[in-house]
Amino acid sequence: MKKHILIVPGDGIGQEVTAVGKQVLDKIAAKFNHDFTYDEALIGHVAIEATGNPLPDETLVKMKASDAILFGAVGHPKYDNDPTAKVRPEQGLLKMRKELGLYANIRPIKLFDELLGASSIKPEILKGADILFFRELTGDIYFGEKGRKNNGDTAFDVAEYSRFEVERIARKAFDAAMTRGKKLMSVDKANVIETSRLWREVVQKVALEYPEVEVTHQFVDSCAMMLIKDPKQFDVVVTANLFGDILTDEASQIAGSMGMLASASIGDGTGVYEPIHGSAHDITGKGVANPLASILSAALLLDISFGLKAESELVISTVDKVLKEGYRTRDIADATTPADKILGTVAMGAEVLKFL
Ligand code: NAD
Ligand code: IPM
Ligand code: MN
Repeated sequence: MKKHILIVPGDGIGQEVTAVGKQVLDKIAAKFNHDFTYDEALIGHVAIEATGNPLPDETLVKMKASDAILFGAVGHPKYDNDPTAKVRPEQGLLKMRKELGLYANIRPIKLFDELLGASSIKPEILKGADILFFRELTGDIYFGEKGRKNNGDTAFDVAEYSRFEVERIARKAFDAAMTRGKKLMSVDKANVIETSRLWREVVQKVALEYPEVEVTHQFVDSCAMMLIKDPKQFDVVVTANLFGDILTDEASQIAGSMGMLASASIGDGTGVYEPIHGSAHDITGKGVANPLASILSAALLLDISFGLKAESELVISTVDKVLKEGYRTRDIADATTPADKILGTVAMGAEVLKFL
């Protein structure tokens, strides 16, 4: 298969982990006789430094021309600590999602059995947890009008959803539920928020097309509680942009670490595959970032954008094998991990490549 992949590492540990994700794609291409070509493009802080723009036109053109995108992360402490900065790395990420029409962000919460001890949740509560989140990605409070009034003393962000936007993400989630446990939880705050009331109304309507799927509607506050209390009860979850952002960082603790969670952003155009974590300033440059989220994002890319199921499954089972061998990065190590099994980013990548 001949495909063109754009590598967009972005900032911080995005650079470190995406390099490993790309190596895995390369190894798969060699092993299965695929012809993958690559290009690289700037986004985020590195793009602002080079061009003044967090998503340069050149990057967008390359994105639209590629078959899939492996993405790292954006963000820099400079902007996090300066709320008045007008140009910000995150604007590049949001514009990319909007421009590519990436309305569905799929975040699998997969717990590898070997990592039962890595979580702060008790193993007996965790074992068997397997959740698939559908986070709406191009609407909500992220993309509504925002600004200041009263001479800057009052700020506002408008949350907006249209029927059509809710319907299309709901269908994606229902379709996925049909291929899994046929359970779907829609998460909202319909007791308070008007966009949530529209959300619930639309999901109830779409549900009529899927009589086999057992649907529940949960308020976001109680869903946050249930994720920790009993993560095994979940199958597919569909929710709005902001709720999905927060709940999936919480759910990363079910999988052991932020460094384990991959995601696929899909919709109208080229698919983007990226870890759910950010640029992680606290560990940038130390060589300790867990590359498995980027590797698992590469697996999602192979499966969803290229339809290469066997290749994708091989990547996932290889990650499993490396964990079974006892190798860990610092974030997923526990008190029983021998020091010589705790690896850095590059060495962990090398183990995966070795077993592939
Ligand atoms: P973060 O996800 O970068 O980090 C949160 C914590 O998880 C940190 O302690 C970090 O060290 C740890 N962590 C994250 N990924 C890890 C990995 N692969 N291996 C080991 N540990 C890992 O979130 P944050 O600190 O709130 O944000 C830092 C910056 O990243 C901010 O500028 C933010 O805007 C940006 N951000 C970007 C994205 C994205 O590009 N998709 C996502 C989240 C945050
Ligand atoms: C994510 C991030 C982004 C989001 C930020 C950096 C804009 O947290 O990809 O989860 O909120 O969507
Ligand atoms: Mn996030």
